[in-house]
Amino acid sequence: MTGTADIYHEMIIDYSRNPINFGEIKDHDVTFHDSNPLCGDSIDIDMKIDDNKVTDIKFHGNGCAICMACSSVLTEITKGKTLDEVRKIDKNDILGELGLEHLQAVRIKCALLSLKVVKSALYTYMGEHLNDSPDVDKLKEEAANLY
Ligand code: FES
Repeated sequence: MTGTADIYHEMIIDYSRNPINFGEIKDHDVTFHDSNPLCGDSIDIDMKIDDNKVTDIKFHGNGCAICMACSSVLTEITKGKTLDEVRKIDKNDILGELGLEHLQAVRIKCALLSLKVVKSALYTYMGEHLNDSPDVDKLKEEAANLY
């Protein structure tokens, strides 16, 4: 491994041992669950939303090191963002943070499971609270076609 690859590898191991934003939000405004049927790992994400902004976000569940690291990074990126900004979070924002841009197709599902859950949670929230949003269906499509 090169020096940079070593650093990314260490970050992934560290996040998997000490995940950030791991836990539950009992009085969440929206929650969503999804799993990776190939490995059986599953992630739940709870969000508090106030004034169209994600004021808190936590995840829990089981996943491999890549899944846990990406969930940590994603929740850090998401916290404090407006719903519109969260909608624009792209898979490359997560993969780039951890040097995973060239991940094999089979591991991409590990890396993007939490993003799929966040997009689905947002879709659920927007469908329930912002019926007039023209982009709600696009969001569902985005979540379904992430990988
Ligand atoms: Fe299951 Fe990675 S092996 S999410």
